Amino acid sequence: MNAKQTILVTGGAGYVGSALVPRLLQQGWTVRVFDLFWYGERVFAEANDHPALQLVKADIRDQGVVRQACAGVEAVIHLACISNDPSFELNPQLGKSINLDAFPGLVQAAQAAGVRRFIYASSSSVYGIRPEPEVREDAPKTPLTDYSLFKLQCEEMLMAAADGGMTKIIVRPATLCGYAPRMRFDLTVNILTIQALVSGRIRILGGAQFRPNLNILDMVRAYELLLTAPPEKVQGIPFNVGYQNYSVAAIAQMVKQTLADEKIELDCVPSNDTRSYRINSDRIREQLGFAPRHSVEEAVHIIAEAYRQGRLAEPLTNPLYYNIKRMQQLGAR
Ligand SMILES: NC(=O)c1ccc[n+]([C@@H]2O[C@H](COP(=O)([O-])OP(=O)(O)OC[C@H]3O[C@@H](n4cnc5c(N)ncnc54)[C@H](O)[C@@H]3O)[C@@H](O)[C@H]2O)c1
Repeated sequence: MNAKQTILVTGGAGYVGSALVPRLLQQGWTVRVFDLFWYGERVFAEANDHPALQLVKADIRDQGVVRQACAGVEAVIHLACISNDPSFELNPQLGKSINLDAFPGLVQAAQAAGVRRFIYASSSSVYGIRPEPEVREDAPKTPLTDYSLFKLQCEEMLMAAADGGMTKIIVRPATLCGYAPRMRFDLTVNILTIQALVSGRIRILGGAQFRPNLNILDMVRAYELLLTAPPEKVQGIPFNVGYQNYSVAAIAQMVKQTLADEKIELDCVPSNDTRSYRINSDRIREQLGFAPRHSVEEAVHIIAEAYRQGRLAEPLTNPLYYNIKRMQQLGAR
């Protein structure tokens, strides 16, 4: 078993990390979270006091601290990022410095420290708009924004880096949904759900664009699996990880149906967000036996439960739930 080995999770105090880190601790890993903690330090609930949790409050652009943080680490899961288009565009220089420029230094630090596995959280947005009914990993990439372009360039840098005994894995997740202790309401399913719950009205931007979705619980399962999958099955391989591909209009309908006991109206407004794609995730199933178990509908139910239990304070306005608002509030640079 992996007991006591250390996993370094950069950006581990974000939406994904706040769900992933407690699970890794439960499984016996020591977890070192390297994060600026923009969304708070106590995002791991009871796991915050776990003896095997180490918090490093630092910037991945700080090479010296990054090198120290890689010491004694078995695997890196690299999540730290300005993690959507609008917050990236808020300050493109900042976005580039974190999402692209800091990347080679992190990979080199991991190699120098003898890290045996590096898992990079890329994005399925690297595909841009594709005509194929479902996009597989080897499809041409036409990233439409710098956020997506830099994800792709980091993938390329990771692949180009000498292996040196390090297993390199690329993950291209769908858009995530569902509840996590560090909540995000700037993701399609989550925002439509909270609008429905709070105001009884869902505002659909565009509607025809297809989006691949994945419940955050399955995202966590995928990272757990990729940490221990045999190197020969994952080395240098990009994996799409998605489940249900829906149009934005269909997501809105699904939210309305799932919350059938609420009175919900749908409003359609035009959008200039043209990203539209459906991903195919057969590779991770065929290669590693990974099948999603948690639906988008389940994500809607769980958010509704958290809201009704009062676990989501002022969800439409609280900057902690919206990356762009929080970065503006902090004056991030
Ligand atoms: N959430 C999704 O739907 C989704 C989909 C596809 C890919 N991803 C990728 O998964 C990763 C995690 O996403 P998330 O939703 O948890 O994002 P998030 O914005 O919630 O978390 C990112 C974390 O990175 C930290 N961070 C930012 N800049 C940093 C820096 N310079 N140094 C140290 N820490 C820094 C932030 O404080 C935050 O805790 C990202 O790389 C994202 O691009 C997410």
